Amino acid sequence: MNFDVIVIGAGAAGMMCAAQAGLRGRRVLLVDHAVKIGERIRISGGGRCNFTNRNVSADNYLSQNRHFSRSALSQFTQHDFLAIVNARGIRYHERDHGQLFCDDSARDIIDMLKDACDDAQVQLVHPCKVLGVQKGEEFDRRFVVDTEQGAFRCESLVIATGGLAAPAIGATPFGYKLAEQFGIPVIAPKPALVPLALAPETLEKLKPLAGNTLDARTEFGSAAFRENVLLTHRGLSGPAILQISSYWQMQEYEGGKKHPVDIDLLPDLNAADWLAEHRRSKQALPMLLAEKLPKKFAQEWCALMGWEKPVNEFSNRDIENIAAALQAWPIMPSGTLGYNKAEVTLGGVDTGALSSKTMEAKAVPGLFFVGEVMDVTGWLGGYNFQWAWSSGWVAGQYA
Ligand code: FDA
Repeated sequence: MNFDVIVIGAGAAGMMCAAQAGLRGRRVLLVDHAVKIGERIRISGGGRCNFTNRNVSADNYLSQNRHFSRSALSQFTQHDFLAIVNARGIRYHERDHGQLFCDDSARDIIDMLKDACDDAQVQLVHPCKVLGVQKGEEFDRRFVVDTEQGAFRCESLVIATGGLAAPAIGATPFGYKLAEQFGIPVIAPKPALVPLALAPETLEKLKPLAGNTLDARTEFGSAAFRENVLLTHRGLSGPAILQISSYWQMQEYEGGKKHPVDIDLLPDLNAADWLAEHRRSKQALPMLLAEKLPKKFAQEWCALMGWEKPVNEFSNRDIENIAAALQAWPIMPSGTLGYNKAEVTLGGVDTGALSSKTMEAKAVPGLFFVGEVMDVTGWLGGYNFQWAWSSGWVAGQYA
């Protein structure tokens, strides 16, 4: 059977792209191997889907090619997506940092995308395994997509199969393998927005601190995030850790010695000035710190560092070290808790091989990549869905 466009992957980016291409009058087939489509949308944002953010720019994305996302994000913005959500009458609310969530259920977004595909007469086939893809040469330059429901031909093929996070709901490396089949490089995928693991000896040392939640700032290189940090029995978690984990993972691409993540325990204070104000205090340091940190954490942290004396008994050098540790407590992760706990995948199809205007592969006319399968990784906060909408929409105009 012949189509103008075949989209493989009926997730966020794939449904957006298929609906847009269909609206242009293209005959579109959307194929997914899953029994239920849009599952990653359904489970997102605790079931309420943080579908975009009020403030989106290329600075909210990690990629080997930092400016790649700029064009798509400006062709289809967060305001454009919001206009569709508003037109549909979906109720939503704003949380910290401009994050927009559905009031009722992520299903509202899935239904909206499905209806858009129906309205654009997109033919949806699922569950359906894709067995292989070939491209004709010379006169017939169409793609042949071989599936367990037969072979389909198309002029434009869009790969929207996502990344490797949450494998339990059907993540596969299909997109990476297909890119490689067509000679397109792939930046090694890694879990991102993911809790950080600690080596057994570090975990043992930090055991008394487990269970604490802190309002802190995580820092790595020039990246910094102010949100909650959770110390758990398995390592470090919480939004500030998930955010910084993506930057910590980036250093793998550079090779060389690994660096720790720094945690600023007193993000609202200059610790050196504050300690100087209390330099003559006879209070034990844990008691003083308990004015600014959870009491249990202050006690256990001081015990761990061996700093339990009254403040006036520390030497000036000690006070300098304490201030430095409060402002940048270095913790070296041993790795991450992996794709099962990750929200997204860092790396993916090398954007250097793609047009930032259309998402088409420069060396393979008619082949497009959209969404998370590409080497574009957003911050926590609705940025990954916005990338799916923007890249899917753009490809939908050109496929
Ligand atoms: P997506 O993963 O949505 O879709 C890929 C589709 O391809 C799936 O339908 C899959 O079945 C299909 N597929 C895969 N392999 C295939 C194959 N071989 N053959 C056929 N089909 C195949 N982001 C955000 O902005 N806000 C949020 O609130 C959250 N929350 C969140 C929670 C959790 C637990 C996770 C795991 C992730 C998030 N995310 C998020 C990230 C967000 O879900 C993700 O970035 C987007 O869904 C990516 O959209 P894609 O369309 O690229 O892939």
